Amino acid sequence: MTSNSLTDSGARPLIRLCESTVVADGEALRVDIDGMAPVAVYNVGGEFFVTDDTCSHGSASLSDGFLEGTEIECPWHSGRFCIRTGHALAFPAVQSIRVYPVTIEGTWVLIPKPNELASGHDCAGHNHSPASEVTR
Ligand code: FES
Repeated sequence: MTSNSLTDSGARPLIRLCESTVVADGEALRVDIDGMAPVAVYNVGGEFFVTDDTCSHGSASLSDGFLEGTEIECPWHSGRFCIRTGHALAFPAVQSIRVYPVTIEGTWVLIPKPNELASGHDCAGHNHSPASEVTR
């Protein structure tokens, strides 16, 4: 890590997930990053949230679900989660999902780099710029 790396208020290094412009209001986008589970980026009226993308009940991709306000409904069995807290709100989902603190830098949506994250990142399968570690 170089001294000019972008960090959050807790001095944690940040990683880019996607540009905010590729996630429309009321929509979610799955982002795959080497070394960590896929995450879902949500746009709720211009406010961005990031959670695990995989439902805690099964293997469904929550970004394929139905976003209503700050609740995401799983596309498989209609479990629901709060995307602010990660709390499961509706059966059969009973286990919370992880939420990530979001930083917006210019047009980029960023989250802290997990400790276990490998140094290289990509964002395969999406029509946006690759996720990458941010340096200035
Ligand atoms: S896989 Fe999401 S509620 Fe079952």
